[in-house]
Amino acid sequence: MDSFGHFDDAAREYVITRPDTPWPWINYMGTGDFFSLISNTAGGYCFCRDAKFRRILRYRYNGVPMDSGGRYFYVKDGANIWNPGWKPCKTPLDFYECRHGMGYSRITGEKDGLRAEVLFFVPLDHRCEVHRLKLENRSGRTKKIQLYSFVEWCLWNAATDMENFQRNLSTGEVEVEPDAIYHKTEYRERRNHYAFYGVNRPFAGFDTDRETFLGMYNGFDAPVQVLSGTSGNSVAHGWSPVAAERFDLELAPGAAEELIFVLGYVENPPEAKFEIPGVINKAQAREMLAAYATGVQVDAAFAALRAYWDDLLGRFVVASTVPELDRTVNVWNQYQCMITFFMSRSASYFESGIGRGMGFRDSNQDLAGIVHLIPDRARQRILDIAATQFPDGGCYHQYQPLTKRGNNDIGGGFGDDPLWLIFGTVAYLKETGDFSILDEPVPFDNVPGSEVTLLEHLKISFRRVATNLGPHGLTLIGRADWNDCLNLNCFSLDPDESFQTTENVAGGKAESLMIAGLFVAEGKDFAELLDRLGDAAASGVRAAVQAMEDAVKEHGWDGEWFLRAYDFDGRKIGSRECEEGKVFIESQGWCAMARIGAAEGLCDKALDAAVKYLECEHGLVLNVPAYSSYLYQYGEISSYPQGYKENGGIFCHNNPWVIIAEAMAGRADDAWRHYCKITPAFGTADQALRKVEPYVFCQMVAGKEAARPGEGKNSWLTGTAAWTWKCVSEFILGVKPQYDGLLIEPCIPLDKGSYRIHRRFREAEYDITIRLVGGPGKVFIPYAPGRHVLEVEL
Ligand code: BGC
Ligand code: NOJ
Repeated sequence: MDSFGHFDDAAREYVITRPDTPWPWINYMGTGDFFSLISNTAGGYCFCRDAKFRRILRYRYNGVPMDSGGRYFYVKDGANIWNPGWKPCKTPLDFYECRHGMGYSRITGEKDGLRAEVLFFVPLDHRCEVHRLKLENRSGRTKKIQLYSFVEWCLWNAATDMENFQRNLSTGEVEVEPDAIYHKTEYRERRNHYAFYGVNRPFAGFDTDRETFLGMYNGFDAPVQVLSGTSGNSVAHGWSPVAAERFDLELAPGAAEELIFVLGYVENPPEAKFEIPGVINKAQAREMLAAYATGVQVDAAFAALRAYWDDLLGRFVVASTVPELDRTVNVWNQYQCMITFFMSRSASYFESGIGRGMGFRDSNQDLAGIVHLIPDRARQRILDIAATQFPDGGCYHQYQPLTKRGNNDIGGGFGDDPLWLIFGTVAYLKETGDFSILDEPVPFDNVPGSEVTLLEHLKISFRRVATNLGPHGLTLIGRADWNDCLNLNCFSLDPDESFQTTENVAGGKAESLMIAGLFVAEGKDFAELLDRLGDAAASGVRAAVQAMEDAVKEHGWDGEWFLRAYDFDGRKIGSRECEEGKVFIESQGWCAMARIGAAEGLCDKALDAAVKYLECEHGLVLNVPAYSSYLYQYGEISSYPQGYKENGGIFCHNNPWVIIAEAMAGRADDAWRHYCKITPAFGTADQALRKVEPYVFCQMVAGKEAARPGEGKNSWLTGTAAWTWKCVSEFILGVKPQYDGLLIEPCIPLDKGSYRIHRRFREAEYDITIRLVGGPGKVFIPYAPGRHVLEVEL
């Protein structure tokens, strides 16, 4: 089988060994508010804060050829023209390698004895990408070459950049200095920001007008200036501004050259926009260029970035006998959690950066993956999210990162949303013990003066769901629940309306067993929290939870598994009575995690049903049989062909729900098997089939009813990251943060032997050796600051 790369565990890198991966395999750079996406051929783009409104590089989604646009270096070595990352010229290279690491990528190409290695990273301290290019003449001959750098600017708003050409093609403006090209489109009016691409030596020639550089009818693979070894020294006026810089270099045999490029973004105070009228104030850009002018400075900045990740990834480290487990837990899963937290669902190679804001539900779940890493940012995120809530507990489904305001276009009314605020806050509290967050004043809908405490928001959230019950005493689904394609209260026959925003029929009474399970699980957590606070509301919460458990047992059990829902007309979904969509995963996961009917054996039966009906070679599918035709009563779920997405795909996000429930039921073998199936490090054998990156989880892998089961899609930005993290760290390896300490309660097959965990927890460091002798069992370790070395035998 074709292999495209392998893990380098010691370096925390994935090494891609051929450029023609089955799909671009990308990485992310950035830790603050400047972020970049970079593929294994240097494609991609960067933005500051908001992928829609502050897009710096232009990128063409779904272009032909795939992955067009990026930071391209061209080497013209006589008649040979090539790129270190292979694209866009695709000249065959004698050597190619891309190493995706933590917040950086290093791409190396070699042709005819000339080696070019480019290190790309976003430093901790500045809003820029650094591109350090090392050239080395390994041939026995002197090389006289031309080197070109190239990026294409986006006119800031990534959406209008792709549609409003009657305006855009007239607005582009640049300034050129001997060692930097400045992109200042719209700076003359309301924008106080510009971008630049500079380098630590003067260039021999340049172009800023795209067509002058490429030629009107050429692609990125054949720029006319590169073909002829020249520059047009063009200054863009409108059309499409770019930054292409030329260097004429001579390298003796064995000689090396290093060029350092900085692709930066600057915001100026409105009163200090210009140096002289019409000329932008470049002070900050010059400061940034000076900060990365030498190799020594770049080494130091890169070392600082590595130290940042060393510190984060030093907080939870497992040493087991299973390398796939260790590399997933210690590196890639935590890394993906960070990226997902930063990006929410905005910018990936499947999310265009112009569509979605931050999801209320998504962002709360993302917290579970990062509270142990960046608790301060988690704290702020919780407060931001809560501030978009309405006084009645309802929520905007999304909010915009730039303004932090709820997004009216997407609407609200998803029945599950309010409960996720409890989920996220509890995760934060158990990790940090920082109860002060509960006293923070938080407004409703960002309206100043409307503040109540965060705790009050949680109460309102709970009440909102507790008081919106349907005919069976089960939770109403609203617009949809976690499965936002299960649209039970709207009936769309119009292909031009979005399922996500179609108006619901008023008074719809469809009920969700997924929310019922979530309500019970989160209700129990909430009651425990209220007890700790000595808050009398706990008893009311417990009563509501008890009533819900009774309702689920009475109306939500189908004999062998939990029902999924009752539709608008009160008919069952996810029942043996149904011809299609008989068994669904979400209600098995949530009701079993909530341990509803555990004593009566319902959880075990539900988990058995998941194994029997939903499991396939690559994981657990969402529903079986998938819907074979469009059913307007169910909405978007039935819009997908069978086996894809929410219609019978392996929606990886919900697999950990079942895995956690398996662990809670003490079923270690089942939990482990399900975990291995969705974790890419265990299954990279057929990389071509999987298509997407073998180092990160994807949202969906095509299910057993699909045309190509096992094909992955929507890699990177998915709640799968946080949920698999929770599942493996807390339930498989069994290190559960509690209010007063760590509960060690693993559920892992005995043949995996013993393992060691290093866990930073608040002001403490724990080194725990866990020896499995008979299991299951648990040990509570009370929290105490300091260093603790412990052995646990279970
Ligand atoms: C997808 C969902 C997604 C939703 C919102 C739907 O088309 O199937 O997975 O959450 O759109 O963007
Ligand atoms: C992706 C969305 O981001 C998430 O909110 C939703 O729960 C899942 N799709 C399932 O529909």
